[in-house]
Amino acid sequence: MAITLAAEEREQMLSAARAAFKNAHAPYSNFRVGSAVLTEHGTLYSGCNVENASFGLTVCAERNAIFAAVAAEGSGMRIRAIAVATERDGPCAPCGACRQVIFEFGPGALVLFRGRSGTVRRWRSSVFAPWSFGWHQRTVPNNGHPLARRNAGE
Ligand code: THU
Repeated sequence: MAITLAAEEREQMLSAARAAFKNAHAPYSNFRVGSAVLTEHGTLYSGCNVENASFGLTVCAERNAIFAAVAAEGSGMRIRAIAVATERDGPCAPCGACRQVIFEFGPGALVLFRGRSGTVRRWRSSVFAPWSFGWHQRTVPNNGHPLARRNAGE
């Protein structure tokens, strides 16, 4: 069944994402991004983008939030919804790398993103990342990991 969130919960997630970008380390792009992940356990985890002088080592806010959720809840962590906020006007959609990571833990997750101007966009990770590479394409045994069954839609 499609995941839905009440307006109040969506607002809470977007505020958590907005609070998170205040800690961003983005001296090179000056583009601070914050993200908040709501897991199936009902807990919120946040992350911000962290850049590096070598540029290529930069990690986006979304992946930092998701990795914090995995660190806290373990490999079975499941994303219900993820919000992204920036201080710029336009809403910031997750990049391709982050879409792939969102899909790994939340193939049906609700994705919300908002810029400073207030426009909110809502999407589903399955639409964001159609035909994504996932557990079902693995050629090695999955050892019965729960994500393997769930991401294959079983
Ligand atoms: N960035 C994010 O954190 N999330 C996105 O969805 C897009 C881009 C960051 C990476 C980099 O630090 C800065 O924004 C400019 O690309």
